[in-house]
Amino acid sequence: MSTVLITGANRGIGLELSRQYVESGDRVYACCRKPEAASELNTLAAASKGQLTVHSMDVSSEHSIKACAKELSSESIGILINNAGIIGGDHQTFDDANLEDWLFTFQVNTIGPFRVAQAFQEHLKLADNPKMMTISSQVAASTFSMSGIYAYASSKAAVNKVMQALAVEWQQSKISVGLIHPGWVQTDMGGAEAQITPQASAAGIRQVIENFKLDDTGSFFKWNGEIHPW
Ligand SMILES: NC(=O)c1ccc[n+]([C@@H]2O[C@H](COP(=O)([O-])OP(=O)(O)OC[C@H]3O[C@@H](n4cnc5c(N)ncnc54)[C@H](OP(=O)(O)O)[C@@H]3O)[C@@H](O)[C@H]2O)c1
Repeated sequence: MSTVLITGANRGIGLELSRQYVESGDRVYACCRKPEAASELNTLAAASKGQLTVHSMDVSSEHSIKACAKELSSESIGILINNAGIIGGDHQTFDDANLEDWLFTFQVNTIGPFRVAQAFQEHLKLADNPKMMTISSQVAASTFSMSGIYAYASSKAAVNKVMQALAVEWQQSKISVGLIHPGWVQTDMGGAEAQITPQASAAGIRQVIENFKLDDTGSFFKWNGEIHPW
């Protein structure tokens, strides 16, 4: 059994990861911005008989992250999944880029996972073979040619670099740090025409985390287990 903390657990990939980890018998700390409005997650929690608990965490707020870390201060966390993310608004072209939205996108997608890492480092150290996986995106890669979505793409490229640096720093503490592209997934963010279901994405992410070793720290994976070029 693993203890798993997931951010942005109330819908999309985060909700499906929560479901699958519960089904596998793991202990899940499911974090979201508004627990009172997280109806599917609360239903899952009620059915899990204590195996999954719901916790308040807004990854754009240092105060909120620290409060959650304090609430769970005696708990060890074996797997931390930085899943929460935003696309960054509708104004992301060269001509209409909204720079305030861009900064907020960094706050959530880049600085959020960094703050979560700072706040939960001690919880990870309490576990055997701890792992932190951040859900990035293929658009982070320099090998992925594209235009537009400046805020989203740059925030994901930046979080890749942040996590690669942290992987080096945390090697001594034996905490594995990885990044993963979850596929193009049928969620609110990915849209209905996306290529894979949340079920397939979450199953792939869980398998990658299962196989992820300290020797692989700093790697950027695809949900299907391949290494993502970047
Ligand atoms: N879907 C895809 O095709 C795709 C592709 C590549 C990468 N990704 C990445 O995969 C991750 C999950 O995406 P998804 O497709 O499941 O998206 P989604 O359906 O839009 O869900 C996003 C989740 O992030 C949460 N979130 C947003 N801002 C937050 C904040 N400040 N604090 C805490 N939680 C916050 C949302 O909570 P609220 O309900 O409170 O807003 C929601 O639970 C993201 O990091 C995304 O960038 C997705």
